[in-house]
Amino acid sequence: MTRLLHWAMALILVWQFAGMGLRLILGRTPLMAFWVGTHQSIGAILLVLILLRLLWAWSNRDRRPAQERTWAGKAAFAGHCALYGLLLVVPALAFLRALGNGRGFAFFGHPVVARSGVRIEWMAAPADLLHSKLAWLLLALILGHVAMALVHHFVWRDGVLSRMIGRARRLGGPDPRLAR
Ligand code: HEM
Ligand code: HEM
Repeated sequence: MTRLLHWAMALILVWQFAGMGLRLILGRTPLMAFWVGTHQSIGAILLVLILLRLLWAWSNRDRRPAQERTWAGKAAFAGHCALYGLLLVVPALAFLRALGNGRGFAFFGHPVVARSGVRIEWMAAPADLLHSKLAWLLLALILGHVAMALVHHFVWRDGVLSRMIGRARRLGGPDPRLAR
């Protein structure tokens, strides 16, 4: 379940960032209009997935792989907390704005909130200020995260990436990081 949620979210995030990044580079072409047109609905799916993922992580808090007590282990923990935080805040602020900006919200063309024409400032303003900035910060953290996953695999060779991909020791076996 952890892997399914991790890789499903990774795929969706690639879609979100590639769409927004290419739109900045290519401008409003018809392809980009389609791609960016899915941004709000896909983002709403991501919001549900991160809520599920946080619930899942919380309900398994006593069965999670041990984190090393070195500076690297503490940095990894802090990095994962920052990732979780931004994964929640970035879509949540945008979703709040979509509910409160008066333009209505449709999920893949199906109206969920009708257009009211009334903008509710406290719902819309935080995302206007922070959504895109925090989203690009999230991308920077993700790139650092991927780089560290590759360091684990190719430099430290400790099986952390293999465990996340699924070719590692059987679940329930000893944690390779504890053996070192
Ligand atoms: C984790 C999920 C999401 C990611 C990674 C993400 C990412 C981004 C990024 C990188 C931008 C900036 C584009 C630029 O700099 O021009 C952006 C803009 C935007 N996003 Fe999202 N987004 C997510 C979820 C959502 C959701 C759930 C909604 C609405 C329901 C939404 C609505 C918008 C809108 C309307 C804009 C353009 C206005 C602005 O820059 O604030 N996004 N998003
Ligand atoms: C693209 C968006 C991605 C996001 C948002 C993301 C987020 C996360 C988070 C929050 C965790 C912490 C899991 C936990 O301990 O609760 C994690 C674990 C992990 N991620 Fe990612 N990840 C992404 C992509 C990737 C990619 C592309 C790779 C591989 C190249 C990767 C490799 C790993 C590995 C190996 C772990 C396990 C760490 C451990 O077992 O302690 N991730 N990811």
